[in-house]
Amino acid sequence: MSLINIIHNWIDERIDLKTLQAKMLNEPMPGGSSYAYAFGSALLFIFIMQATTGIFLMFYYAPTADHAWQSTQYILKELDYGWFILSFHFWGASAMVVMLVSHMLQVFIWGAYKKPREMVWLAGIVLFLIVMGFGFTGYLLPWDQRAFWGTTVGVEIMDKAPIVGDFLARFLRGGPTAGAQTLSRFFVIHVMILPAALVIMFSLHLFFFRKAGPAGPFKATAKELETKMEFFFPRQVFKDIVVMAGVFVVIAGLSVLSPVELLDEASPEPTDYNPEPEWYFLFLFQLLRLPMFSGQLGEFLGAIALPGLFIVLLMALPFINRNPERHPLKRPFAMSAVVLLMVSIVVLTWLAIASRSE
Ligand code: HEM
Repeated sequence: MSLINIIHNWIDERIDLKTLQAKMLNEPMPGGSSYAYAFGSALLFIFIMQATTGIFLMFYYAPTADHAWQSTQYILKELDYGWFILSFHFWGASAMVVMLVSHMLQVFIWGAYKKPREMVWLAGIVLFLIVMGFGFTGYLLPWDQRAFWGTTVGVEIMDKAPIVGDFLARFLRGGPTAGAQTLSRFFVIHVMILPAALVIMFSLHLFFFRKAGPAGPFKATAKELETKMEFFFPRQVFKDIVVMAGVFVVIAGLSVLSPVELLDEASPEPTDYNPEPEWYFLFLFQLLRLPMFSGQLGEFLGAIALPGLFIVLLMALPFINRNPERHPLKRPFAMSAVVLLMVSIVVLTWLAIASRSE
């Protein structure tokens, strides 16, 4: 018997590896495996890559107002492969948002949020907010002009929220303007609170998913679901790995082709720098430029009421829409709403980008 076998048997005797393996890999998938179900695992993979590159970065990054920019510059210019790790982390964040939206669209189109998967969906919405929080807090950390002014505008928007807005903005800023306190608070939220929240919420998401079971294809009959049943291993595992490898290649490629560039160090002195958020928040930024969202009431409506209402609506979705029909062609209202939403987001983002060159 080889040494590996001896070790395997020794562990197996103590923690029953076979049952563990069966529980992890033999999850029944009604209707069989599909590339459409790979987005969730790809999201988890990107999170693990973000955590890994983030830990590497933390060895060199100094989260203080007088050293953050210098340490980021050091990572980019001096440290061996530092530019690659930071760029991978930067592009990984965008990949996570793209994958998150793809995953949400997939489960929406497949009607996978419907009974009995309401709790999977609700935990998913919390995960969505956590990922947005990662993007918002991470943006400040390089402490350059883009980071400083983008965050200043972001926190000003938050200030407009009723009841909690003022408290939240004061808490995040830690003073009248963005400064040393803001940076430490954003750093703690980015590297401690959000990762812990994501791990907890993901565990719940997966637990609820395992309890309810995968929704499977929307067009199959109960009999087809039964006869086309596959286990998670090997076919779905293979498809998940193919998508993960693709995601890795794309992020690494973008990091090499377009590495992170640092602007001048943050300075609270008024400048002609035009603040702008990360691209995935640009549509919201552009929405606020529309005449109907100007003035105090308009700003409140565009920046707080509308996004807040959208999140509440997303959460309420499985409870409002209780029709068990999952086929997208038989849900014309839901499909038109999602197409309209996606087109509006793309058009607003495009307008924001086009207005840069004006
Ligand atoms: C960090 C974020 C997230 C991670 C890591 C994640 C991960 C996963 C994984 C691994 C699965 C099982 C396989 C699959 O269908 O992909 C899954 C299923 C699911 N997720 Fe997520 N998810 C995240 C965010 C979300 C969000 C934002 C939503 C929706 C608001 C959501 C809703 C669902 C639903 C409804 C299912 C069940 C799909 C089915 O039964 O076919 N997830 N998720």
